[in-house]
Amino acid sequence: MSKIRAAVTSVGGYVPEYKLTNKVLETMVDTNDEWIMSRTGIKERRILKGEGLGTSDMAVEAVNELLKKRGISADEIDLLICCTVTPDLVFPATANIITDKIGASNAFGFDLMAACSGFLYGVTTGSKYIESGACKKVIVVGADKMSSIVDYEDRQTCIIFGDGCGAVLLEPTEEDFGVMDTIMKSDGSGRVHLHQKAGGSVKPASHATVDAKEHFIYQEGQAVFKFAVTNMADVSAEIMERNNLSSDDIRFLVPHQANKRIIDATARRMGVGEDKVMLNIEKYGNTTSGTIPLCLWEWEKQLKKGDNLILSAFGGGFTWGSIYLKWAYDSK
Ligand code: UT7
Repeated sequence: MSKIRAAVTSVGGYVPEYKLTNKVLETMVDTNDEWIMSRTGIKERRILKGEGLGTSDMAVEAVNELLKKRGISADEIDLLICCTVTPDLVFPATANIITDKIGASNAFGFDLMAACSGFLYGVTTGSKYIESGACKKVIVVGADKMSSIVDYEDRQTCIIFGDGCGAVLLEPTEEDFGVMDTIMKSDGSGRVHLHQKAGGSVKPASHATVDAKEHFIYQEGQAVFKFAVTNMADVSAEIMERNNLSSDDIRFLVPHQANKRIIDATARRMGVGEDKVMLNIEKYGNTTSGTIPLCLWEWEKQLKKGDNLILSAFGGGFTWGSIYLKWAYDSK
């Protein structure tokens, strides 16, 4: 019997309407468009406005689009994995809230937290449920409402992050398409450079933690940059080597969108030109778990059956990794 692989068979995405531009940020903190563009490649990011709206509300939009495109109903879904660092609530899992809101009454679900590598960890996990035969339809959501944990008085972080969500459907195939290989890595010692100080069990929320702004992202940008640039390039080169792929074999690098300079370094290391790099950081900034599926969503129409994609990310944890994905359908 031939091997069962997990193929991506549909994609959905959602970005909120409101655009927070560099020009507006100039009025909020001591920064300027030239600095932000040259250091990060970001021009604007989307922000989810509206009382009572959270990560699940963006996910519902993305998942409903994905279901509609594939022509299936929510109750056919077996499993939904929500990759996020900004869940609606501390518990229960946002995956449960999404499945309830979309009416996926036969699905089980859980959240997966691996920060910027979350979506890659999610696809890796979801593909195992497909390959084992345990599930036939798995949705992997990458969604973050980063504006809920950004300090808009901190110029080092508020210029980077935005809100957004993408989602993919994984289904079994016996053809040679889908998730071909994955390399996932982590190094918890990197947590000191990128984390949220309070709100967990070590330091529960209190007046003091709120006053000290400890519920926002803490990032030592330079340190993270150094690790990101090396590790994202290394792991992308490693997965190419392991699968005997040359730069000519690659249709697209699908990188986590944290900083254009990190993406450029990864592409250089892989030997692929700009025309083979999915890049939308200028419009959306860093949406954490959302970046990679949002790229797939935006580029879907350009993808052809058999295209070789390398998905790569680095982020908080530290976590990083790469997936070799062979695209399984021609988009209509
Ligand atoms: O996705 C999760 C993983 N995260 C990442 O991959 C992020 C990795 N890090 C980065 O992308 C970059 O380190 C940043 C974009 C966060 C910062 O860029 P940088 O080139 O590393 O800048 P820096 O922190 O070294 O700061 C350079 C200068 C400093 O001024 P002095 O000390 O040279 O006078 C900063 O105070 O730029 C200053 N600066 C700013 N100036 C204008 C820092 N932020 C700003 C700002 N506007 N927003």
